[in-house]
Amino acid sequence: MIYFDNAATTMLKPPAVAEAVARAINSFGGAGRGVHEASLDAGMTIFGARASIARLLGAPDPKHVCFTSNVTESLNIAIAGLLHAGDHAITTAASHNSVLRPLYRKVDEEGAELSIVPIAPDASLDLEAYEAAFKPNTALVVATHASNLTGDVYDIARMAAIAHDHGALFVLDAAQTAGSVPTNMAELGVDVLCFTGHKSLFGPQGTGGLCLAEDIDIPALKEGGSGTHSYDRRHPSFYPEHLEAGTINGHGIAGLAAGVAFIEEVGAEAIHAHTLELSDRFEAAVRDVPEATIYGGHGGIDRTGIVCLNIGSADSGVVSDLLNAEYGICTRAGAHCAPLMHMAMGTEGPGAVRFSFGYFNTAEEVDEGIRAIREIAASLG
Ligand code: ALA
Repeated sequence: MIYFDNAATTMLKPPAVAEAVARAINSFGGAGRGVHEASLDAGMTIFGARASIARLLGAPDPKHVCFTSNVTESLNIAIAGLLHAGDHAITTAASHNSVLRPLYRKVDEEGAELSIVPIAPDASLDLEAYEAAFKPNTALVVATHASNLTGDVYDIARMAAIAHDHGALFVLDAAQTAGSVPTNMAELGVDVLCFTGHKSLFGPQGTGGLCLAEDIDIPALKEGGSGTHSYDRRHPSFYPEHLEAGTINGHGIAGLAAGVAFIEEVGAEAIHAHTLELSDRFEAAVRDVPEATIYGGHGGIDRTGIVCLNIGSADSGVVSDLLNAEYGICTRAGAHCAPLMHMAMGTEGPGAVRFSFGYFNTAEEVDEGIRAIREIAASLG
């Protein structure tokens, strides 16, 4: 099998990740729920994960890293807590449904207002249109760092500065970048960074979180057991406990900590450079296939390791099935939960075939992908 679906989940992970999960599952008690060795082991590992994620992503303090089950939960917490009836929010057409649907819900159920900044067919975002979208009641911008469809990385530092000039908070969806594109929330000026563990942080599925800037306070979505202050009527207001009701996924977070340790050792810059080398190699060859249309890749200030394409007028599902059945190559097809991005690129009908390369892919695997696309294009074209 050749795995090119790393933007969905990295399947090839540092071996230390599975080892850490196996160790944790056989040795962890409930973190913060006891003073015995098994509980302290879990607590120390989880604290270590908070500390390394804070270092990697530029959070002000490990206490400001709150764990959730994935980036979707993180974005739901941020949007539910920071956008209120009568407020106006801005997002972009590059957003994933994990941003769009919680925002639409606020519009439909609470009367919030929403503006969506268009994306051009080359996947670029017009910063003048973005700035023009602000209104006196704009409270929140929620934007993706990189499109999960095209891999274009947007100018978040500029966008966050504009949001702050207008008195709005800036929430970043870093699902596609945390771990694979150097990302520092303090340098970018981000107020809330939402991440997922199972993509380029190399963690298990079911891990993710939010990193909060120093002065950010978000109403909790869930309340319940906290392990401390048990006689208080309401869930603690201090972080990270405030956003972590119930026993969190310590087993998964142990794996996530091992993934982040690997990134710290190799360096996010080196991971980014290797992944781009692979995607550039693939794209350069596929551009010479007359039947192939490649989308995006020119609209941002940087890229992730994604190449998104179609072959002639073939449905993307047909091409992705052929890649899997005939070549053992895993890609993702269809709408990728990014409906407005497909509308911008005119690919609502066929969807698109997404090749997303990861740190553990090789040039030889990429060459197999190129061969497969050439042959499929010849057979379908
Ligand atoms: N959002 C993930 C993807 O792009 C699941 O595949």
